[in-house]
Order: sequence, then structure tokens, then C-alpha cells
Amino acid sequence: MFDEIDFGRIDLEEAPPLEEPARQFYFIAKCREWVKDFEEKHGRLPKACVTTFGCQMNARDSEKLSGILRDIGYEMTEDERADFVIFNTCTVRDNANQRVYGRLGELNGYKRRNPGMKIALCGCMMQEPEVIEKLKKSYPFVDLVFGTHNIYKFAELLCRSFESQGMLIDIWKETDKIVEDLPVERKYPFKSGINIMFGCDNFCSYCIVPYVRGRERSREPEDILREIRRLVADGVVEVMLLGQNVNSYGKTLDKPVAFAELLRQVEGIEGLKRIRFMTSHPKDLSPELIQVMKESEKICRHLHLPLQSGSTEILRRMNRRYTREQYLELVQKIRGEIPDIAITTDIIVGFPGETPEDLEQTIDMVRRVKYDNAFTFIYSKRTGTPAAAMEDQVPEAQMKEGFDRLLKVVQETAREQAAKLQGRVMEALIEEVNENDPSLVTGRLFDNRIVHVPGDASLVGKLMPVSLEECHGFYYMGRIYKGDVLC
Ligand code: 5AD
Ligand code: SF4
Repeated sequence: MFDEIDFGRIDLEEAPPLEEPARQFYFIAKCREWVKDFEEKHGRLPKACVTTFGCQMNARDSEKLSGILRDIGYEMTEDERADFVIFNTCTVRDNANQRVYGRLGELNGYKRRNPGMKIALCGCMMQEPEVIEKLKKSYPFVDLVFGTHNIYKFAELLCRSFESQGMLIDIWKETDKIVEDLPVERKYPFKSGINIMFGCDNFCSYCIVPYVRGRERSREPEDILREIRRLVADGVVEVMLLGQNVNSYGKTLDKPVAFAELLRQVEGIEGLKRIRFMTSHPKDLSPELIQVMKESEKICRHLHLPLQSGSTEILRRMNRRYTREQYLELVQKIRGEIPDIAITTDIIVGFPGETPEDLEQTIDMVRRVKYDNAFTFIYSKRTGTPAAAMEDQVPEAQMKEGFDRLLKVVQETAREQAAKLQGRVMEALIEEVNENDPSLVTGRLFDNRIVHVPGDASLVGKLMPVSLEECHGFYYMGRIYKGDVLC
């Protein structure tokens, strides 16, 4: 990913450099000494496990944590009975927090059997002061805690944790810094996420992200393009440009660059075959973006366009800054220009004040838009957000009932949409050998749908024409197409 660093040549007698990323390379080299001692003592390398909760941004952050651990000398494993375990946490909804607490209990059991084990926590949940208090009080066996703004300092914090006793906590409230060129260990050799921006300035009234991920900051286009070029040289054919609100990319740069323009430049990278991006906010989706998508050969025919609610009154209370009519008009424009596009969404049920009529409006929107898929969530009260203080919180039983009704309609429309492709031949990027049936491989179509076809590991990472034979709702069963027609 980055130009290979010779850690052996870093002089640990010197004081650590102040500039980044050189400072982190220094601490990686220092941690390597610790790994050497471990190996001499135990006759094996120490093992490390990174567990990710939450979104694609977290998944990408975890690849950075893994890259640093790999360079320190750890052997990476998915088994949490390792010598070092880090949970990269999410706090968008309360059930994600509860899962972390539950899993921490299990880690405590492992640590009793392996007292040398180190446990670390990072990510969005750690930015909440109540969480830190709870950890101090009830989870004293945790060794290291840091947040979203100082993740680039992981090597330095790990080093300090090796040298100290007890729980080391380092949480920053904010940062305006973006550190480039740290090591990354990619989960897939042929596809990769790329952060194009960090944070969010939208303050949707239910959402905790702006508080835990901070203000919106965009990376310079040259840095993004350089990273993608390197990835392509390393075998990547598909990239996913990541941000909480990619449609407002570039607004905060000294020399502002629109997202549509960034996409144009990414399209120009030779060897790159597919471009995805996530997430789009409807209020910022520009006509230029639709045009760029329409003209592009590489931008995948998929748009994730969170609706959240189909009721204009609830949207107003959510601070989404669009009406149901504006959203519908936008979808019509997109489908008019790009007829084969798949549109997916996020919907929240049970936002404070939501009446059965409001929910009807949401269900009606699902029918009108005909989403190809929708992620539906029960509203979760997040401390510190404006919605948490709103009166008329919806009773749980009503939320559950509404959720089940919505889900049925979502599944109906998704099934109808998927069935439209039956019998066609499309290009799929083969991503992995099927977990349940090793005689099959799983591929992803241009519009993000999944297809399973007979095949073996030699196909993984390849773009193949496949015929979509049987639609099973959210996925297809198909075959590699041996003719030469692609449609
Ligand atoms: N409760 C339920 N769902 C939420 N989301 C964000 N905050 C909340 C919350 N407090 C959902 C939104 C968002 C997705 C990532 O998570 O639908 O688009
Ligand atoms: Fe949360 Fe709204 Fe920002 Fe998305 S756009 S991260 S829902 S505040």
C-alpha cells in the first residue's frame, strides 16, 4: 500500500519524530522490539484479532489497525482467544453498544486463562463520556481505550500501553488532522474502501455520528487519487469511496472540488474497473452527479439514498432538509436518466411523534420508489441528540408492529425488483468461495446484487459474465456465461 518502510533502520535511541506518519513508524519499530521479546520467551509470534462492529467506515479503519499490527509483527487471527484483541465499536444504535458489553464479558474469561492478554477498545462508542465511565467502573480488565480522532496514533498508544499498568485512556473531542500513508491490511486483494471524507455536519436530530465523528473534513483529491492508483497497481479493480455524506465532498477544501468532479478524476484511473460510493444525502445530490453517473462506464449502477421517513413532518423533525415530494422528484430524475440503476435506502421506524399515518406515508414511499433493498431500523434513543429530548417517544410495541409491517413491504418490492433481471447476462466480480457450499462462488453485479455460480477459488477477484438463472429474492443462482454476449 505505502512505500515499504525498513523498520530495522529506525534509530530507537533517538527521540520520536514529531511529524506524522514518521512518528507512528517510530512506534511501530518500538513495538517490534516487544514482539521480539515475546517470541523469544514463548517460541511463537503473538496473535492479534481485530473485531469490527458497524459500518463500512469502521471496516476500513479496522484494515488500518490490522496493517499496523501486521507491521508490528503480530500474526493476525479471527479467534478472540488471541494475545491482543481490539474491538472497533459502533454506537449508532444502542443494540451495537449492548453487543460490545456482552462480548467484553467473554473476553474477560479468555484473559483469566491468558493473563498476558491485552484488550483494547476504539471507535465511535468510545467518544461517549458515559461509556468511558462505565468501562472504568465495571470493565477494569480493559488495557487500552481510544476514540475516532486519534486512531492514527494506534502504534504510539499500544507502545505506551506496553510500558504502563492499568487502563490507558486517550480520547480526543475533535481534530482537524488527516494523517495519510499509514499501513493498511486489506481484507480483499481485489477491492477496497477509500475514505474521501470524515465526520458529518448534518446533525440529523436522531443521529449521534456528528458528535462522535466530529466535523466534516474532506481529503485532498490528489491524496485520494494517489491512494487509488497505488491500490490499482496492487491488484484492486473495484473501489468504494466512503464518507457519511459523499455528496457534500470537497466543500471544506481550500480549493473546493465537487464530488461529481472527483468521480470524473477517479474514472480516469487506468486499470480501475468499478467505482462505488456511500453514503449519499438526498439534499446534496447534484444534477452533475446524475450526469457523471449516466456517462460513466465504471460507476456502478447503485445508489444508496437514505430516506429515513416518508412523512414530510417527520423529516422536518429529523432535520433532514427535504420533503417527501422532493425525494420522489429526485428518484424520478435519477431513474429517468439511469433506468437500470438499483436504489437502496435506510428507514427508521418509531421516531418520536411518528403516528400510524406517518408510517403509512413511509410504506407508500417504499411502494412508489420500489427500492431494490432497504435497511430498516427501529428508532434508538441516543443520549445528547435533540430527538432524545423530544416528547411523544413512540411505545416499543407500536415500533415493533410498525417495523414488521414495513419490512413485509420492503421485502415484496425488493423481490419484484430483483426478478426483473432473471434470464439476463451481466458482469459479476467474483468475491469469494461460498461459505455454505464450497462448490459455489459468490459474485457481485454492477448494481450490487449478489449471484452464486458454480466455480472455484481460481475465479476470486475476476470479473466474469454470468447468466442470472433463478431469482431467490435478494440473490441469484446463475452460471458463468460461456457465450460472448453481455447485456
Ligand atoms: N436510531 C435508529 N436508526 C438510526 N440510524 C442512525 N441513527 C439512528 C438511531 N438513533 C440509522 C439511519 C442511518 C443508518 C446508518 O442508521 O437510518 O442512515
Ligand atoms: Fe447521521 Fe444524518 Fe450525518 Fe447520516 S447525514 S451520519 S444520518 S447526521
